[in-house]
Amino acid sequence: MNLVFTNINRIYGTQPNGRHILKGTDMAEVPFLDHAYLRCRDGIITETGLMQDWVAKEDEQQVSLEGKWLIPGLVDSHTHLVFAAAREEEFRMRISGKSYEEIAAAGGGILNSALKLRQTSEEQLFEDACVRLHLMMAHGTTTVEIKSGYGLDTASELKMLRVIKRLKEHFPMQIRATFLGAHAIPAEFRQDRAGYIRLITDEMLPAIHAEGLADFMDVFCDRGFFSPEETATLLEAGLRCGLRPKIHANELGLTGGVQVGVQFGALSVDHLEHCGPDEIACLLESHTIPVGLPGTSYFLGLPYTPVRALMDAGLPVALASDFNPGSSPGPSLQMTMSLACTQMKMLPEEALNAVTLNAAAALDLNDTCGSLTPGKRADFCVLKGNPSLALIPYHFGVNHVEEVYVQGVRC
Ligand code: NIG
Ligand code: FE
Repeated sequence: MNLVFTNINRIYGTQPNGRHILKGTDMAEVPFLDHAYLRCRDGIITETGLMQDWVAKEDEQQVSLEGKWLIPGLVDSHTHLVFAAAREEEFRMRISGKSYEEIAAAGGGILNSALKLRQTSEEQLFEDACVRLHLMMAHGTTTVEIKSGYGLDTASELKMLRVIKRLKEHFPMQIRATFLGAHAIPAEFRQDRAGYIRLITDEMLPAIHAEGLADFMDVFCDRGFFSPEETATLLEAGLRCGLRPKIHANELGLTGGVQVGVQFGALSVDHLEHCGPDEIACLLESHTIPVGLPGTSYFLGLPYTPVRALMDAGLPVALASDFNPGSSPGPSLQMTMSLACTQMKMLPEEALNAVTLNAAAALDLNDTCGSLTPGKRADFCVLKGNPSLALIPYHFGVNHVEEVYVQGVRC
């Protein structure tokens, strides 16, 4: 179908063809067109331009977005949105002084989620995940990565990944699945870490590979979870099954996660609440993208990823929600942007680039989304009223998205 959206007040994110990632100072600029149109065919953008140059075509349907402002659909490159239950009782414990690590060591945290997920049917998980995905879409997210990692046994990890597969079939948005069997050592393997790692490499990965259930492989490489050596074994096995790493690194300490991620060609290393000169030097020698998750720092009271230092070094930065029931129960990338501006000192333009083009790069989807460029999907948000770009992170706690279009279709 041929469609043209006309009379648009402003289109943000009209990156030129071939610009696939923004590094360092380039992140401060968001190109835009005023009084513009956007044309698409079968969900793919064919042209953007100024209204003064627009000539109507016979075979196309016109949708007037009179006076509206558009941004590219937001890209959430790191979520755990398939889960069985909220963990608000742990929220209370943390308010009263227990740390995330203490709660995890006592069998709470990820293990608590695993216990509940194992008892929940695939159907129920799917229904609950649908509600969360609709909520994310209503806040402007049109591309999303979803991890497993609350199963921690073969059947339950497969159950989670099958739920993600069904979500892929059910939703028009682009969805990527990441296998995170190495999220924690399950209770039954507490005395046998090597046994659990073998279960992942010898049983889970081949089963996932056989069903084609995952796009990426993740490991929680951190203090109290998986060591860099264990991570290396796991990533090697994942690569043998064609799964590129995207890992959790340095949330709880300077634990070598960045280095092992880079060593195995990770597409991204996520978290980096702890990140010093050695990590920056290591990233500069790689194509691995650092991803900050400010919702987690906010919710757990952790340091914020030093994104200014990363950008000053000339690196690209992406941001994601980390939406999950333990460390970041917030699904809105608009809130992520706000935290990035107030806590990480990112400019609104840098924050928008970090949740669009650079986030798409962190999913290897920057040739199909992340900017409103001919050849990419017509995934965009229509904003409420007449905001400036800065108003999105400034006026926080408010949903600035009025309508969401995925492949040119209003959702
Ligand atoms: O990204 N850090 C590891 N995984 C999640 C938290 C998982 C949980 O607490 O349920 C995260 O923060
Ligand atoms: Fe996470």
